[in-house]
Amino acid sequence: MSRIPFIAGNWKMNLTVKEAREFAKEVATKVPAASSVESAICAPATHLEALVELTKGSELAIGAENCHFEKSGAFTGETSPYVLNDLGVKYVILGHSERREYFGETDELINKKTIAAFENGLVPIVCCGETLEEYEAGKAVEVITSQLRVDLAGLTKEQAEKLVVAYEPIWAIGTGKSADSSTAEACCQLVRETVCGLYDETTAQAVRIQYGGSVKPTNIKEYMACEDIDGALIGGASLKEDSFKELIMATK
Ligand code: 13P
Repeated sequence: MSRIPFIAGNWKMNLTVKEAREFAKEVATKVPAASSVESAICAPATHLEALVELTKGSELAIGAENCHFEKSGAFTGETSPYVLNDLGVKYVILGHSERREYFGETDELINKKTIAAFENGLVPIVCCGETLEEYEAGKAVEVITSQLRVDLAGLTKEQAEKLVVAYEPIWAIGTGKSADSSTAEACCQLVRETVCGLYDETTAQAVRIQYGGSVKPTNIKEYMACEDIDGALIGGASLKEDSFKELIMATK
């Protein structure tokens, strides 16, 4: 099955709204048709409305970096998946390692959010990946499979087919020390096998799997050449217009 490559920026807690506007104006009209490469910027909640407005009618999609699992209610400070969809947001990153590490997010919580994302018309980008300690102890396989079994529990086959999974080894995030492409491919293949075990081969072949961790214009081609890597989730190198455009063009 041929899967459309998917390159997404994860801005994390960076850039002002003014800078985000300038970025959108510069990039929105320059990305290729989503039928050849899908591109998205996932931005802080404060930036989403402006980004959606400025990218309307363009091929650049907008994503959030997190959401709550309820539509509305007494959840001070949280972002509703229903409102994100209403705003015109398409994707939501869930279970990023920074949310797991600094905000105590568990796989059970990530699972509730993943289900809520689908129920509210968003496409979740579910992140998984091991720490350096786990990697060195040879536990990567165990960590990734056990994360995904819980994160994806209860999704229908139709939902699972639309899913995006980002494999992000924690030791490669923001460190400049990217995983070599054979390691990244082996782990992305493991993600696909895990989805196959949970569903079936058709579902596994439909799921898009991204590698994330120090991806740059200079190394993206190595990852995109791998069979089970369908794209990248990019932090630092997605913050500058030129570098983001280069990353997308390298994929075409
Ligand atoms: P860097 O590309 O800055 O390593 O960040 C990766 C990441 O966490 C994307 O979600």
